[in-house]
Amino acid sequence: MEVASVSEREPEGRSGGGSGRKSRPAYLRTKSIEQSIKDTEEPEHALTRSLSALDLTVFGVGVIIGTGIFVLTGAVAKEQAGPATALAFVVAGIVCALAALCYAEFASTVPVAGSAYTFSYASLGELPAWTIGWDLVLEFALGTAVVAVGWSGYIRALLANAGVELPAALSGPDVAHGFSFDVLSAALVLVLTAILVLGMKLSARVTSVVVAVKVAVVLLVIIAGSFFVDPANYRPFIPEAKGSISGSGLTAPLIQLMSGYQPTTFGVEGIFTAAAVVFFAFIGFDIVATAAEETRNPQRDVPRGILGSLFICTVLYVGVSVVVTGMQKYTELSVDAPLADAFKATGHPFYAGVISFGAAVGLTTVCMILLLGQSRVFFAMSRDGLLPRVFSGVHPRFRTPYRSTILLGVIIAIVSGFTSISQLAALVNIGTLFAFVVVALGVLILRRTRPDLPRAFRTPWVPVLPVVSVVASLWLMLNLPAETWLRFAVWMAIGFIVYFLYGRRHSRVTEAGTRGE
Ligand code: ALA
Repeated sequence: MEVASVSEREPEGRSGGGSGRKSRPAYLRTKSIEQSIKDTEEPEHALTRSLSALDLTVFGVGVIIGTGIFVLTGAVAKEQAGPATALAFVVAGIVCALAALCYAEFASTVPVAGSAYTFSYASLGELPAWTIGWDLVLEFALGTAVVAVGWSGYIRALLANAGVELPAALSGPDVAHGFSFDVLSAALVLVLTAILVLGMKLSARVTSVVVAVKVAVVLLVIIAGSFFVDPANYRPFIPEAKGSISGSGLTAPLIQLMSGYQPTTFGVEGIFTAAAVVFFAFIGFDIVATAAEETRNPQRDVPRGILGSLFICTVLYVGVSVVVTGMQKYTELSVDAPLADAFKATGHPFYAGVISFGAAVGLTTVCMILLLGQSRVFFAMSRDGLLPRVFSGVHPRFRTPYRSTILLGVIIAIVSGFTSISQLAALVNIGTLFAFVVVALGVLILRRTRPDLPRAFRTPWVPVLPVVSVVASLWLMLNLPAETWLRFAVWMAIGFIVYFLYGRRHSRVTEAGTRGE
Protein backbone atom coordinates (compact mmCIF):
# COMPACT_ATOMS: atom_id res chain seq x y z
CA MET A 1 0.00 0.00 0.00
CA GLU A 2 1.21 3.50 -0.84
CA VAL A 3 0.94 4.80 2.70
CA ALA A 4 3.04 1.95 4.10
CA SER A 5 5.81 2.37 1.57
CA VAL A 6 6.01 6.10 2.24
CA SER A 7 6.13 5.40 5.99
CA GLU A 8 9.04 3.05 5.50
CA ARG A 9 11.01 5.83 3.89
CA GLU A 10 10.09 8.28 6.63
CA PRO A 11 9.65 6.39 9.94
CA GLU A 12 9.19 9.47 12.15
CA GLY A 13 5.56 8.77 12.96
CA ARG A 14 3.20 11.35 14.31
CA SER A 15 5.52 14.25 14.96
CA GLY A 16 7.83 13.72 12.01
CA GLY A 17 6.69 15.34 8.83
CA GLY A 18 8.58 18.47 8.06
CA SER A 19 12.29 18.75 7.78
CA GLY A 20 14.31 20.27 10.54
CA ARG A 21 12.16 18.65 13.22
CA LYS A 22 14.80 18.75 15.97
CA SER A 23 15.39 22.48 15.69
CA ARG A 24 11.68 23.39 15.47
CA PRO A 25 9.83 24.91 18.44
CA ALA A 26 6.73 22.92 19.49
CA TYR A 27 4.25 25.27 17.82
CA LEU A 28 5.96 24.83 14.46
CA ARG A 29 6.02 21.04 14.64
CA THR A 30 4.34 19.51 11.60
CA LYS A 31 2.03 16.53 11.54
CA SER A 32 3.37 14.02 9.03
CA ILE A 33 1.38 13.29 5.90
CA GLU A 34 1.53 9.60 6.82
CA GLN A 35 0.06 10.28 10.26
CA SER A 36 -2.68 12.42 8.75
CA ILE A 37 -3.69 9.50 6.55
CA LYS A 38 -3.32 6.98 9.39
CA ASP A 39 -5.57 9.02 11.71
CA THR A 40 -8.39 8.65 9.22
CA GLU A 41 -8.11 4.89 9.53
CA GLU A 42 -8.79 4.75 13.30
CA PRO A 43 -12.27 3.14 13.43
CA GLU A 44 -13.50 5.45 16.21
CA HIS A 45 -12.65 8.53 14.18
CA ALA A 46 -13.03 7.38 10.56
CA LEU A 47 -15.57 8.68 8.05
CA THR A 48 -17.09 6.49 5.31
CA ARG A 49 -15.48 6.74 1.84
CA SER A 50 -18.46 6.97 -0.47
CA LEU A 51 -18.10 10.00 -2.77
CA SER A 52 -17.06 10.06 -6.45
CA ALA A 53 -15.69 12.88 -8.67
CA LEU A 54 -19.23 13.56 -9.87
CA ASP A 55 -20.53 13.79 -6.29
CA LEU A 56 -17.76 16.27 -5.53
CA THR A 57 -18.53 18.39 -8.60
CA VAL A 58 -22.20 18.43 -7.66
CA PHE A 59 -21.20 19.39 -4.13
CA GLY A 60 -18.99 22.15 -5.55
CA VAL A 61 -21.65 23.63 -7.82
CA GLY A 62 -24.17 23.13 -5.02
CA VAL A 63 -22.28 25.35 -2.63
CA ILE A 64 -20.68 27.82 -5.06
CA ILE A 65 -23.83 29.17 -6.75
CA GLY A 66 -25.78 31.02 -4.11
CA THR A 67 -26.23 34.37 -2.44
CA GLY A 68 -23.30 35.76 -4.41
CA ILE A 69 -24.96 35.58 -7.80
CA PHE A 70 -28.60 35.67 -6.66
CA VAL A 71 -28.28 38.64 -4.29
CA LEU A 72 -24.91 40.46 -4.36
CA THR A 73 -24.85 40.99 -8.16
CA GLY A 74 -27.48 43.73 -7.92
CA ALA A 75 -25.80 45.82 -5.22
CA VAL A 76 -22.38 45.49 -6.83
CA ALA A 77 -23.61 46.55 -10.28
CA LYS A 78 -25.60 49.41 -8.83
CA GLU A 79 -22.96 50.80 -6.48
CA GLN A 80 -19.53 49.71 -7.72
CA ALA A 81 -19.10 48.44 -11.24
CA GLY A 82 -22.20 48.88 -13.45
CA PRO A 83 -22.27 46.53 -16.47
CA ALA A 84 -18.56 45.81 -15.83
CA THR A 85 -19.73 43.55 -12.99
CA ALA A 86 -19.11 40.73 -15.47
CA LEU A 87 -15.43 41.75 -15.44
CA ALA A 88 -15.47 41.72 -11.64
CA PHE A 89 -16.66 38.09 -11.82
CA VAL A 90 -13.82 37.32 -14.23
CA VAL A 91 -11.26 38.91 -11.89
CA ALA A 92 -12.61 37.03 -8.87
CA GLY A 93 -12.79 33.82 -10.93
CA ILE A 94 -9.13 34.14 -11.95
CA VAL A 95 -8.06 34.64 -8.33
CA CYS A 96 -10.05 31.55 -7.38
CA ALA A 97 -8.67 29.48 -10.27
CA LEU A 98 -5.11 30.26 -9.18
CA ALA A 99 -5.97 29.26 -5.62
CA ALA A 100 -7.82 26.17 -6.89
CA LEU A 101 -4.71 24.91 -8.66
CA CYS A 102 -2.84 25.15 -5.36
CA TYR A 103 -5.74 23.58 -3.41
CA ALA A 104 -5.86 20.71 -5.86
CA GLU A 105 -2.20 19.80 -5.32
CA PHE A 106 -2.59 19.93 -1.55
CA ALA A 107 -5.83 17.98 -1.55
CA SER A 108 -4.39 15.26 -3.75
CA THR A 109 -1.33 14.93 -1.52
CA VAL A 110 -3.06 15.04 1.86
CA PRO A 111 -6.37 13.22 1.29
CA VAL A 112 -7.85 13.69 4.76
CA ALA A 113 -10.57 15.86 6.33
CA GLY A 114 -9.91 19.48 7.17
CA SER A 115 -9.08 21.32 3.96
CA ALA A 116 -6.47 24.06 4.24
CA TYR A 117 -6.21 23.31 7.94
CA THR A 118 -4.91 19.80 7.41
CA PHE A 119 -2.72 20.83 4.50
CA SER A 120 -0.99 23.53 6.50
CA TYR A 121 -0.53 21.19 9.47
CA ALA A 122 1.44 18.92 7.17
CA SER A 123 3.55 21.69 5.72
CA LEU A 124 3.72 24.87 7.76
CA GLY A 125 3.38 23.73 11.38
CA GLU A 126 0.88 23.64 14.21
CA LEU A 127 0.41 27.34 14.89
CA PRO A 128 -0.09 28.24 11.20
CA ALA A 129 -2.48 25.26 10.98
CA TRP A 130 -4.43 26.47 14.00
CA THR A 131 -4.53 29.94 12.47
CA ILE A 132 -5.98 28.64 9.22
CA GLY A 133 -8.42 26.29 10.98
CA TRP A 134 -9.73 29.12 13.12
CA ASP A 135 -9.98 31.23 9.98
CA LEU A 136 -11.98 28.52 8.21
CA VAL A 137 -14.38 28.34 11.14
CA LEU A 138 -15.06 32.03 10.47
CA GLU A 139 -15.47 31.49 6.72
CA PHE A 140 -17.83 28.54 6.90
CA ALA A 141 -19.86 29.45 9.98
CA LEU A 142 -20.51 33.05 8.96
CA GLY A 143 -20.90 31.99 5.32
CA THR A 144 -23.66 29.58 6.39
CA ALA A 145 -25.33 32.35 8.35
CA VAL A 146 -25.13 34.80 5.42
CA VAL A 147 -26.73 32.34 3.02
CA ALA A 148 -29.42 31.33 5.52
CA VAL A 149 -30.43 34.97 5.92
CA GLY A 150 -30.50 35.39 2.10
CA TRP A 151 -32.68 32.27 1.83
CA SER A 152 -35.04 33.60 4.44
CA GLY A 153 -35.46 36.82 2.40
CA TYR A 154 -36.51 34.86 -0.71
CA ILE A 155 -38.93 32.73 1.30
CA ARG A 156 -40.50 35.85 2.79
CA ALA A 157 -40.84 37.28 -0.72
CA LEU A 158 -42.62 34.11 -1.87
CA LEU A 159 -44.85 34.12 1.22
CA ALA A 160 -45.70 37.78 0.56
CA ASN A 161 -46.76 36.84 -2.99
CA ALA A 162 -49.14 34.34 -1.44
CA GLY A 163 -50.47 37.05 0.91
CA VAL A 164 -48.71 35.77 4.05
CA GLU A 165 -46.68 38.29 6.07
CA LEU A 166 -44.44 37.20 8.94
CA PRO A 167 -44.43 39.52 11.98
CA ALA A 168 -41.41 41.88 11.90
CA ALA A 169 -40.15 40.44 15.20
CA LEU A 170 -39.70 37.08 13.46
CA SER A 171 -38.13 38.45 10.25
CA GLY A 172 -34.62 39.37 11.41
CA PRO A 173 -32.61 42.59 11.75
CA ASP A 174 -32.49 43.27 7.98
CA VAL A 175 -36.23 43.86 8.03
CA ALA A 176 -37.20 44.96 11.54
CA HIS A 177 -36.01 47.58 13.99
CA GLY A 178 -35.60 46.76 17.67
CA PHE A 179 -35.60 43.13 18.81
CA SER A 180 -36.06 40.66 15.98
CA PHE A 181 -35.08 37.07 15.37
CA ASP A 182 -35.02 35.62 11.84
CA VAL A 183 -36.94 32.46 12.62
CA LEU A 184 -36.82 31.13 9.03
CA SER A 185 -33.03 31.26 8.69
CA ALA A 186 -32.55 29.66 12.11
CA ALA A 187 -35.03 26.90 11.26
CA LEU A 188 -33.26 26.19 7.96
CA VAL A 189 -29.89 25.78 9.68
CA LEU A 190 -31.35 23.41 12.30
CA VAL A 191 -33.11 21.20 9.72
CA LEU A 192 -29.93 20.96 7.62
CA THR A 193 -27.93 20.09 10.72
CA ALA A 194 -30.25 17.14 11.32
CA ILE A 195 -29.82 15.96 7.70
CA LEU A 196 -26.02 16.09 8.00
CA VAL A 197 -26.09 14.13 11.25
CA LEU A 198 -28.08 11.39 9.50
CA GLY A 199 -25.24 10.86 7.01
CA MET A 200 -23.37 11.96 3.89
CA LYS A 201 -25.26 9.68 1.54
CA LEU A 202 -28.63 11.17 2.30
CA SER A 203 -27.35 14.72 2.10
CA ALA A 204 -25.55 14.06 -1.20
CA ARG A 205 -28.80 12.73 -2.71
CA VAL A 206 -30.82 15.71 -1.54
CA THR A 207 -28.08 17.98 -2.82
CA SER A 208 -28.11 16.53 -6.35
CA VAL A 209 -31.82 17.28 -6.84
CA VAL A 210 -31.54 20.81 -5.49
CA VAL A 211 -28.41 21.58 -7.51
CA ALA A 212 -30.28 20.55 -10.68
CA VAL A 213 -33.07 23.01 -9.86
CA LYS A 214 -30.59 25.79 -9.15
CA VAL A 215 -28.56 25.32 -12.33
CA ALA A 216 -31.80 25.16 -14.35
CA VAL A 217 -32.88 28.51 -12.90
CA VAL A 218 -29.51 30.11 -13.66
CA LEU A 219 -29.71 28.83 -17.25
CA LEU A 220 -33.25 30.17 -17.46
CA VAL A 221 -32.00 33.63 -16.46
CA ILE A 222 -29.27 33.52 -19.11
CA ILE A 223 -31.34 32.08 -21.98
CA ALA A 224 -34.73 33.74 -21.40
CA GLY A 225 -33.13 36.99 -20.24
CA SER A 226 -30.97 37.32 -23.35
CA PHE A 227 -34.17 37.94 -25.37
CA PHE A 228 -34.96 41.01 -23.23
CA VAL A 229 -31.53 42.69 -23.38
CA ASP A 230 -31.41 46.33 -24.50
CA PRO A 231 -27.88 47.17 -25.78
CA ALA A 232 -28.32 50.78 -24.62
CA ASN A 233 -28.03 49.52 -21.03
CA TYR A 234 -24.39 48.59 -21.66
CA ARG A 235 -23.41 52.21 -22.29
CA PRO A 236 -21.19 53.09 -20.51
CA PHE A 237 -19.85 49.60 -19.89
CA ILE A 238 -17.40 50.89 -17.27
CA PRO A 239 -19.11 53.88 -15.60
CA GLU A 240 -16.86 56.85 -14.88
CA ALA A 241 -15.20 56.92 -11.44
CA LYS A 242 -16.77 59.28 -8.94
CA GLY A 243 -16.31 60.19 -5.28
CA SER A 244 -17.81 57.71 -2.87
CA ILE A 245 -20.56 58.90 -0.51
CA SER A 246 -20.36 56.07 1.98
CA GLY A 247 -16.81 54.96 1.20
CA SER A 248 -15.06 57.24 3.65
CA GLY A 249 -13.22 56.37 6.85
CA LEU A 250 -13.34 52.72 7.87
CA THR A 251 -15.91 51.73 5.25
CA ALA A 252 -13.52 52.57 2.37
CA PRO A 253 -11.36 49.83 0.83
CA LEU A 254 -8.05 49.62 2.70
CA ILE A 255 -6.08 50.13 -0.52
CA GLN A 256 -7.78 53.51 -1.07
CA LEU A 257 -7.03 54.65 2.47
CA MET A 258 -3.41 53.49 2.12
CA SER A 259 -2.93 55.37 -1.13
CA GLY A 260 -4.21 58.55 0.50
CA TYR A 261 -6.69 59.42 -2.27
CA GLN A 262 -10.32 60.32 -1.76
CA PRO A 263 -12.27 57.04 -1.95
CA THR A 264 -14.10 56.52 -5.25
CA THR A 265 -16.60 54.11 -6.73
CA PHE A 266 -17.01 52.85 -10.33
CA GLY A 267 -14.22 53.28 -12.86
CA VAL A 268 -11.53 50.61 -13.22
CA GLU A 269 -10.91 50.70 -9.48
CA GLY A 270 -14.59 49.92 -8.94
CA ILE A 271 -14.17 46.64 -10.83
CA PHE A 272 -11.65 45.46 -8.24
CA THR A 273 -13.75 46.67 -5.31
CA ALA A 274 -16.65 44.79 -6.87
CA ALA A 275 -14.45 41.71 -7.39
CA ALA A 276 -13.61 41.67 -3.68
CA VAL A 277 -17.36 41.53 -2.95
CA VAL A 278 -18.58 39.12 -5.64
CA PHE A 279 -15.71 36.88 -4.60
CA PHE A 280 -18.29 35.59 -2.12
CA ALA A 281 -20.04 33.98 -5.09
CA PHE A 282 -17.06 31.66 -5.61
CA ILE A 283 -16.64 30.55 -2.03
CA GLY A 284 -17.21 26.87 -1.74
CA PHE A 285 -14.87 25.20 -4.21
CA ASP A 286 -12.39 24.86 -1.38
CA ILE A 287 -14.97 22.85 0.55
CA VAL A 288 -14.71 20.11 -2.06
CA ALA A 289 -11.25 19.53 -0.64
CA THR A 290 -12.67 19.10 2.87
CA ALA A 291 -14.57 16.03 1.69
CA ALA A 292 -11.37 14.30 0.55
CA GLU A 293 -11.54 11.83 3.42
CA GLU A 294 -14.99 10.74 2.31
CA THR A 295 -13.96 10.32 -1.34
CA ARG A 296 -13.40 6.86 -2.84
CA ASN A 297 -10.37 7.92 -4.92
CA PRO A 298 -9.24 11.27 -3.55
CA GLN A 299 -5.94 11.39 -5.47
CA ARG A 300 -7.81 11.54 -8.77
CA ASP A 301 -11.29 12.80 -7.93
CA VAL A 302 -10.65 15.78 -5.65
CA PRO A 303 -8.74 17.88 -8.24
CA ARG A 304 -11.39 17.01 -10.82
CA GLY A 305 -14.17 18.04 -8.46
CA ILE A 306 -12.55 21.36 -7.51
CA LEU A 307 -11.55 22.56 -10.97
CA GLY A 308 -14.69 21.25 -12.66
CA SER A 309 -17.12 22.99 -10.34
CA LEU A 310 -15.14 26.25 -10.44
CA PHE A 311 -15.11 26.34 -14.23
CA ILE A 312 -18.85 25.68 -14.56
CA CYS A 313 -19.70 28.44 -12.07
CA THR A 314 -17.42 31.06 -13.65
CA VAL A 315 -19.08 30.61 -17.04
CA LEU A 316 -22.57 30.85 -15.51
CA TYR A 317 -21.75 33.98 -13.46
CA VAL A 318 -20.38 35.89 -16.40
CA GLY A 319 -23.47 34.90 -18.40
CA VAL A 320 -25.90 35.97 -15.68
CA SER A 321 -24.23 39.33 -14.98
CA VAL A 322 -23.99 40.22 -18.68
CA VAL A 323 -27.67 39.39 -19.21
CA VAL A 324 -29.02 41.10 -16.08
CA THR A 325 -27.11 44.37 -16.60
CA GLY A 326 -28.35 44.28 -20.21
CA MET A 327 -31.99 43.82 -19.15
CA GLN A 328 -32.10 46.75 -16.77
CA LYS A 329 -30.05 49.94 -16.40
CA TYR A 330 -27.51 49.23 -13.64
CA THR A 331 -28.73 52.25 -11.66
CA GLU A 332 -32.19 50.67 -11.46
CA LEU A 333 -31.24 47.12 -10.50
CA SER A 334 -32.80 45.80 -7.30
CA VAL A 335 -30.55 44.97 -4.36
CA ASP A 336 -32.66 42.24 -2.70
CA ALA A 337 -33.63 40.01 -5.64
CA PRO A 338 -31.92 41.48 -8.74
CA LEU A 339 -32.37 38.48 -11.04
CA ALA A 340 -36.08 38.10 -10.40
CA ASP A 341 -36.71 41.84 -10.36
CA ALA A 342 -34.99 42.37 -13.72
CA PHE A 343 -37.65 40.07 -15.24
CA LYS A 344 -40.40 41.93 -13.40
CA ALA A 345 -39.03 45.23 -14.72
CA THR A 346 -39.14 43.96 -18.30
CA GLY A 347 -42.76 42.84 -17.81
CA HIS A 348 -42.28 39.10 -17.17
CA PRO A 349 -43.54 38.39 -13.63
CA PHE A 350 -44.00 34.66 -14.32
CA TYR A 351 -40.25 34.22 -14.86
CA ALA A 352 -39.63 36.32 -11.74
CA GLY A 353 -41.71 33.91 -9.64
CA VAL A 354 -39.94 30.84 -11.02
CA ILE A 355 -36.54 32.42 -10.38
CA SER A 356 -37.44 33.39 -6.81
CA PHE A 357 -38.59 29.85 -6.12
CA GLY A 358 -35.44 28.34 -7.66
CA ALA A 359 -33.22 30.72 -5.70
CA ALA A 360 -34.91 29.78 -2.43
CA VAL A 361 -34.52 26.07 -3.21
CA GLY A 362 -30.94 26.48 -4.41
CA LEU A 363 -29.71 28.39 -1.39
CA THR A 364 -30.56 25.43 0.84
CA THR A 365 -27.71 23.35 -0.61
CA VAL A 366 -25.27 26.22 -0.20
CA CYS A 367 -26.15 26.37 3.46
CA MET A 368 -25.93 22.64 3.88
CA ILE A 369 -22.51 22.25 2.28
CA LEU A 370 -21.02 25.24 4.11
CA LEU A 371 -22.29 23.63 7.28
CA LEU A 372 -20.72 20.34 6.25
CA GLY A 373 -17.33 21.93 5.54
CA GLN A 374 -17.52 23.75 8.85
CA SER A 375 -18.22 20.64 10.89
CA ARG A 376 -15.44 18.71 9.14
CA VAL A 377 -12.79 21.35 9.91
CA PHE A 378 -13.91 21.43 13.52
CA PHE A 379 -13.82 17.62 13.54
CA ALA A 380 -10.25 17.54 12.23
CA MET A 381 -9.05 20.14 14.74
CA SER A 382 -10.67 18.21 17.55
CA ARG A 383 -9.15 14.92 16.38
CA ASP A 384 -5.74 16.58 16.57
CA GLY A 385 -6.41 17.70 20.15
CA LEU A 386 -6.39 21.42 19.33
CA LEU A 387 -10.07 21.50 20.32
CA PRO A 388 -11.62 19.12 22.89
CA ARG A 389 -11.51 15.50 21.66
CA VAL A 390 -15.13 14.93 22.55
CA PHE A 391 -16.11 16.64 19.27
CA SER A 392 -14.29 14.15 17.04
CA GLY A 393 -16.26 11.06 18.04
CA VAL A 394 -18.16 9.51 15.10
CA HIS A 395 -21.78 8.41 15.57
CA PRO A 396 -21.86 4.61 15.95
CA ARG A 397 -24.67 4.20 13.43
CA PHE A 398 -24.53 7.16 11.03
CA ARG A 399 -20.70 7.43 10.98
CA THR A 400 -20.85 11.22 11.05
CA PRO A 401 -19.13 13.63 13.48
CA TYR A 402 -22.47 14.36 15.12
CA ARG A 403 -21.32 16.29 18.18
CA SER A 404 -19.40 18.98 16.26
CA THR A 405 -22.18 19.15 13.65
CA ILE A 406 -24.88 19.72 16.29
CA LEU A 407 -22.83 22.20 18.34
CA LEU A 408 -21.95 24.34 15.33
CA GLY A 409 -25.41 24.04 13.80
CA VAL A 410 -27.03 25.48 16.93
CA ILE A 411 -24.51 28.34 17.18
CA ILE A 412 -24.91 29.24 13.50
CA ALA A 413 -28.72 29.12 13.77
CA ILE A 414 -28.56 31.70 16.57
CA VAL A 415 -26.09 33.92 14.69
CA SER A 416 -28.17 33.81 11.51
CA GLY A 417 -31.26 34.78 13.49
CA PHE A 418 -29.70 37.93 14.89
CA THR A 419 -27.27 39.21 12.22
CA SER A 420 -27.56 41.11 8.91
CA ILE A 421 -26.00 39.86 5.65
CA SER A 422 -23.94 42.88 4.69
CA GLN A 423 -21.86 43.02 7.85
CA LEU A 424 -20.87 39.40 7.52
CA ALA A 425 -20.17 38.84 3.81
CA ALA A 426 -17.00 40.97 3.71
CA LEU A 427 -15.68 39.20 6.79
CA VAL A 428 -16.26 35.83 5.15
CA ASN A 429 -14.37 37.02 2.05
CA ILE A 430 -11.30 38.26 3.91
CA GLY A 431 -11.10 35.00 5.85
CA THR A 432 -11.29 32.92 2.70
CA LEU A 433 -8.69 34.99 0.86
CA PHE A 434 -6.39 34.63 3.83
CA ALA A 435 -6.79 30.85 3.59
CA PHE A 436 -5.85 31.04 -0.11
CA VAL A 437 -2.63 32.86 0.78
CA VAL A 438 -1.66 30.20 3.30
CA VAL A 439 -2.47 27.33 0.92
CA ALA A 440 -0.37 28.82 -1.91
CA LEU A 441 2.56 29.31 0.47
CA GLY A 442 2.04 25.76 1.67
CA VAL A 443 2.43 24.37 -1.85
CA LEU A 444 5.80 26.12 -2.16
CA ILE A 445 7.00 24.90 1.24
CA LEU A 446 5.83 21.30 0.79
CA ARG A 447 7.52 21.03 -2.60
CA ARG A 448 10.76 21.94 -0.85
CA THR A 449 10.39 19.93 2.37
CA ARG A 450 8.67 16.81 0.94
CA PRO A 451 9.55 16.56 -2.76
CA ASP A 452 9.28 12.76 -2.41
CA LEU A 453 5.54 12.62 -1.73
CA PRO A 454 3.36 11.25 -4.53
CA ARG A 455 1.17 14.03 -5.96
CA ALA A 456 -1.77 12.92 -8.09
CA PHE A 457 -2.17 16.53 -9.18
CA ARG A 458 0.75 18.95 -9.47
CA THR A 459 0.24 22.72 -9.59
CA PRO A 460 1.72 23.95 -12.90
CA TRP A 461 4.46 26.62 -13.13
CA VAL A 462 5.70 26.36 -9.53
CA PRO A 463 6.92 28.67 -8.01
CA VAL A 464 5.45 31.36 -10.29
CA LEU A 465 1.78 30.32 -10.06
CA PRO A 466 1.58 30.06 -6.23
CA VAL A 467 3.40 33.41 -5.91
CA VAL A 468 0.94 35.05 -8.32
CA SER A 469 -1.90 33.43 -6.35
CA VAL A 470 -0.63 34.97 -3.09
CA VAL A 471 -0.31 38.43 -4.69
CA ALA A 472 -3.76 38.21 -6.32
CA SER A 473 -5.47 37.13 -3.08
CA LEU A 474 -3.72 39.90 -1.12
CA TRP A 475 -4.81 42.41 -3.76
CA LEU A 476 -8.48 41.47 -3.35
CA MET A 477 -8.09 41.57 0.45
CA LEU A 478 -6.77 45.14 0.17
CA ASN A 479 -9.90 46.06 -1.77
CA LEU A 480 -12.07 45.18 1.24
CA PRO A 481 -13.10 47.86 3.78
CA ALA A 482 -10.72 48.81 6.57
CA GLU A 483 -13.38 47.89 9.15
CA THR A 484 -13.42 44.35 7.77
CA TRP A 485 -9.67 44.12 8.40
CA LEU A 486 -10.24 45.27 11.99
CA ARG A 487 -12.96 42.67 12.63
CA PHE A 488 -10.78 39.98 11.10
CA ALA A 489 -7.87 40.98 13.35
CA VAL A 490 -10.10 40.72 16.44
CA TRP A 491 -11.33 37.24 15.45
CA MET A 492 -7.78 36.00 14.84
CA ALA A 493 -6.60 37.48 18.17
CA ILE A 494 -9.31 35.47 19.97
CA GLY A 495 -8.05 32.40 18.10
CA PHE A 496 -4.50 32.90 19.34
CA ILE A 497 -5.73 33.17 22.92
CA VAL A 498 -7.67 29.88 22.58
CA TYR A 499 -4.62 28.18 21.05
CA PHE A 500 -2.18 29.28 23.72
CA LEU A 501 -4.61 28.51 26.57
CA TYR A 502 -5.89 25.14 25.25
CA GLY A 503 -4.68 23.80 21.90
CA ARG A 504 -0.95 24.06 22.45
CA ARG A 505 -1.09 21.92 25.59
CA HIS A 506 -3.56 19.32 24.33
CA SER A 507 -2.21 18.87 20.82
CA ARG A 508 -1.66 15.19 19.98
CA VAL A 509 1.38 16.08 17.87
CA THR A 510 3.02 18.00 20.71
CA GLU A 511 2.11 15.29 23.25
CA ALA A 512 3.67 12.63 21.02
CA GLY A 513 6.76 14.79 20.56
CA THR A 514 7.09 15.21 24.34
CA ARG A 515 6.89 11.44 24.79
CA GLY A 516 9.64 11.08 22.19
CA GLU A 517 7.55 9.05 19.72
N1 ALA B 1 -20.59 30.98 -3.02
C1 ALA B 1 -21.68 30.90 -2.14
C2 ALA B 1 -22.72 31.92 -2.41
O1 ALA B 1 -22.64 32.64 -3.37
C3 ALA B 1 -21.21 30.93 -0.73
O2 ALA B 1 -23.67 32.00 -1.71
